[in-house]
Amino acid sequence: MSRWAFASIRPVRQVHAFCVSKALSTLSFEETSSRSSKLCPYNIAKQEPDDESITPEAHLKIDREHLWHPYTSMTNPMPMRSVARADGVYLTLETGERVVDGMSSWWAAVHGYNVPELNEAAARQLGKMSHVMFGGLTHRPATELAKRLVDIAPDGLTKVFLCDSGSVAVEVAIKMALQFWSLQGFPRRSRLLTVRGGYHGDTFGAMAVCDPVNGMHSLFKDALPQHVFAPRPACTFHEEFREEEHLDEFKQLLVENKEELAAVIMEPVLQGAGGMHMYSPQYLRGVRRLCDEHDVLLILDEIATGFGRTGELWGSCHANIVPDIMCIGKALTGGYLTMGATLASSKVAEGVSAGGYPLMHGPTFMANPLSCAIAAASIQLLTESPWRERVRNIGAELKDGLAGCADVGVVKDVRVLGAVGVIELNRAVDMQWITAKLIQRGVWLRPFGRLLYTMPPYVIQSTELQTITDAMKDVVKAMDAQDR
Ligand SMILES: Cc1ncc(COP(=O)(O)O)c(C=O)c1O
Repeated sequence: MSRWAFASIRPVRQVHAFCVSKALSTLSFEETSSRSSKLCPYNIAKQEPDDESITPEAHLKIDREHLWHPYTSMTNPMPMRSVARADGVYLTLETGERVVDGMSSWWAAVHGYNVPELNEAAARQLGKMSHVMFGGLTHRPATELAKRLVDIAPDGLTKVFLCDSGSVAVEVAIKMALQFWSLQGFPRRSRLLTVRGGYHGDTFGAMAVCDPVNGMHSLFKDALPQHVFAPRPACTFHEEFREEEHLDEFKQLLVENKEELAAVIMEPVLQGAGGMHMYSPQYLRGVRRLCDEHDVLLILDEIATGFGRTGELWGSCHANIVPDIMCIGKALTGGYLTMGATLASSKVAEGVSAGGYPLMHGPTFMANPLSCAIAAASIQLLTESPWRERVRNIGAELKDGLAGCADVGVVKDVRVLGAVGVIELNRAVDMQWITAKLIQRGVWLRPFGRLLYTMPPYVIQSTELQTITDAMKDVVKAMDAQDR
């Protein structure tokens, strides 16, 4: 049965959205908006799709009027660029421009786009099954992925919960920590200790551990559980770490609150969306030691840092430590499909399952076979590639390429870790202006606040990377000129 015929037997309410796009081939957008609810879905569903007939203007108008974008107003959105396709490290816009992607689709597309090995894994799996429920059933893609994950995870993280996204992986990690203590007879241990400047996702449990002041969720603060926040780690990645100076406040908070603490949660060595701050691995080592001394679980959120981005396979490897629970996502499927995972040690799994207790979490698309197959192929591709050398080279070229920016007046700091290059500015960027400028220079970046940064696919070539760093340099100089 074709996709289109199948649509005709869906409930009318679901077909309604389908009608709108189908009807556009024969109606103007205004007509469609007002009349589609009266159209018969059965007739519409028989027509073949003809998306090409929707003009670029109509397409963007539908987007503007009906689609919410990330962190964007529905009524006052920024202009959107439409992507027609993505290959290697390039995005081709509908307008015909081809831009180097310096974002890896928010840290995810580490192998670039349209990757033959991942396409093949997807096609092979699609031919068998795209999805079956995971309740009471299992499948080869899930066990294959679990085996690969356990093989590459820090030692001892052998229990894997496969879920929908990074935020959900964080929710599951928090549930595990709370359930662990509750079943040991400590139900009061339900709070988390974290550091300021963190970002862990947009769902409610995750929001509650994001930076409470500068984070993006301040509107919801009264609806969130109150956790404990230590200052952002003050010791930067390459700085000398002095325990009494740098870890003292964290230690005090941990000791003062330990009767109520289930876990510490942190992004290891690099805080991403909370400010692209790179901190000392020694700080992280100190946190691990304090958690051990005071019997508090350690959750590391490796959703952004995992799969080699910081130069080590996991951020925790810089500090040579192993968390009790680890969250991953983003690059897990090489950026092909949404998927997250929460990995736990046997000690955590046994505590969470004390007395045979279930973990009450089970999303509909848990361990989606298509995502699992692609994730397994992505891990194979990564581990068989010279990823470490590639990330090291990207880091070196980012350092060289961005070096000239440090002296520009509008620049506060330039920092590089692994395949992440950051220019911190003295003032917030004008998003619309800077995006247009970058696209003119053949580059796709998505700055935020005072941060202009890149974390390109690992397969990027030197000339392409130079296009990115040249564009970054040009726009900060242009910003500086504006300020004079
Ligand atoms: C460190 C970290 N944790 C969690 C998340 C949330 O992941 P997702 O957007 O897949 O829900 C992100 C996303 O940017 C992240 O950077």
